[in-house]
Amino acid sequence: MKRVLFVCLGNICRSPTAHGVFQALVARQGLAELIEVDSAGTGAWHVGKPPDRRATAAAAQRGYDLTQLRARQVCREDFNRFDYLLAMDASNLEDLRQLAPQQASARARLLLDFADRQESEVPDPYYGGDDGFEHVLNLVEEACQGLLQQIRGELGR
Ligand code: 4NP
Repeated sequence: MKRVLFVCLGNICRSPTAHGVFQALVARQGLAELIEVDSAGTGAWHVGKPPDRRATAAAAQRGYDLTQLRARQVCREDFNRFDYLLAMDASNLEDLRQLAPQQASARARLLLDFADRQESEVPDPYYGGDDGFEHVLNLVEEACQGLLQQIRGELGR
């Protein structure tokens, strides 16, 4: 079993997008029993809320359903449960590493480590236009492919 937690600031735009995209990819490849997927935010402002409607709409256009997701805040115990805690940007990663038990810090990484891209961060789309959400989806889809390839190798599947 492998467990993946996607982490952004609010858990209403980027990390729920990654959650929905990766979950769909895992399900399509018949690996849902072997790979657990979740998402969380470093901040608590939106706890209990569904994803931003712009994120939900952009994802739905590509066939991903985010409507059942609800925001929660990341916690120290998440480092006991998850093998991968994947931050959307450098600030999220720094916050995650502050929270991490010392020996677990390396499990926190940038999502785009798994994409073949110059960019290292998924930019926050919250205060921008709709194209920001498309850009998030493009980056997330690419990184999720790379991530799944990595995990399949570890699982021998
Ligand atoms: P996210 O986007 O981190 O991708 O969920 C944000 C959502 C809300 C806020 C910031 C970023 N906010 O400041 O409320």
